[in-house]
Amino acid sequence: MGISGSLRRDSYNTKLLRAAEELLPPYVQFELWDGLKAVPPYDEDDDVDPAPAAVAALRAVVAGADAILFATPEYNSSVPGQLKNAIDWLSRPLARSQLRNKPVAVVGASAGAFGAVWSQGELRKVLAATGARVVDAEVAVGHAPTRFDEHGALVDEDLREQLRGTVEVLVAETPARRLASAI
Ligand SMILES: Cc1cc2nc3c(=O)[nH]c(=O)nc-3n(C[C@H](O)[C@H](O)[C@H](O)COP(=O)(O)O)c2cc1C
Repeated sequence: MGISGSLRRDSYNTKLLRAAEELLPPYVQFELWDGLKAVPPYDEDDDVDPAPAAVAALRAVVAGADAILFATPEYNSSVPGQLKNAIDWLSRPLARSQLRNKPVAVVGASAGAFGAVWSQGELRKVLAATGARVVDAEVAVGHAPTRFDEHGALVDEDLREQLRGTVEVLVAETPARRLASAI
């Protein structure tokens, strides 16, 4: 599944996930999750059974995903609050966190030169803290408005190759592929 940290309709990070979808091998199904805006602010008093509906839906879709590709913007040098908030919900209850051992990869796009590298780094740190298996790959789309065409396609060949490499590494980390390569 793909999770974009941006809620914006024309988000470059969401476009980056769409570009990743096109680079996936045909046997991989991809679902772009669009429920981020509905996730309430984390409140330990609300973290009970049953969980708030939007949180239960998020936990269910993550539980069913073999791997997650995150695309994050950078807000004030860090992870956008709404994305961090969703991860906080996913990280609880600790013993049953849906992120534990989940293969995840992080990419990012920003309007500035550096392609959200600080935000990506912080997101990897947060994901590692939840017990997710963070794959060693990075795609930093700087000057994002110049990297996509009017249809939202990623037009920079180098970045497309980096993105292809990232999704390949992520797919190779999924339980099904690990099993397939072991037999
Ligand atoms: C609140 C806020 C803070 C931002 N801070 C940064 C920043 O620290 N570094 C950066 O490169 N861009 C920053 N930007 C610009 C984003 O890179 C730009 O808005 C980008 O398009 C957001 O990603 P999106 O297109 O996926 O929504 C910031 C934007 C907002 C709205």
